[in-house]
Amino acid sequence: MSDSASPSDGVTRRDFLDLVTWSTLAVGAGAIAWPLIDQMNPSADVLALSSIEVDIAPIAVGGAVTVKWRGKPVFIRHRTEEEISEAGAVSLNELRDPQTDAERVVKPEWLIVVGVCTHLGCVPLGNKPGEPRGDYGGYFCPCHGSHYDTAARIRKGPAPLNLAVPTYAFLTDTSVRIG
Ligand code: FES
Repeated sequence: MSDSASPSDGVTRRDFLDLVTWSTLAVGAGAIAWPLIDQMNPSADVLALSSIEVDIAPIAVGGAVTVKWRGKPVFIRHRTEEEISEAGAVSLNELRDPQTDAERVVKPEWLIVVGVCTHLGCVPLGNKPGEPRGDYGGYFCPCHGSHYDTAARIRKGPAPLNLAVPTYAFLTDTSVRIG
């Protein structure tokens, strides 16, 4: 049989029918297998293990970077003494989502939070130089006007919760693993 044989050729047509049959079986098997495969997808626990390491040595005091972790922006800010003391001076009864600054940081000079507004998921401003940082000096979500303080706690506007703190650990003084 030549390579140019058409489906009108007997052998080729049989091959073609075999192919169609096997394809149909494969689709059927796929439909049955899908729920099983779906159950084998990584669980939330496994996904939570995915992590990144960030070199924070270049971030000067007062500076910040945004990194991407599991598809989300994470804000890493090297806080100034003023920002740290402002965050520490707030009493819990002023807060909608009460958390002390110490509960939200591992080291006071480093604030690390997920940069996703807890209202409807916009990325707040304030982590890049020159961006507005809101009435409380942290982050400002322009979508509907949520203001976060220097510990990224919600202080004003519709957002119900503080910016989330991801799991992270310092590997060295200049390296942090997120996730
Ligand atoms: Fe941020 Fe609405 S999404 S205020």
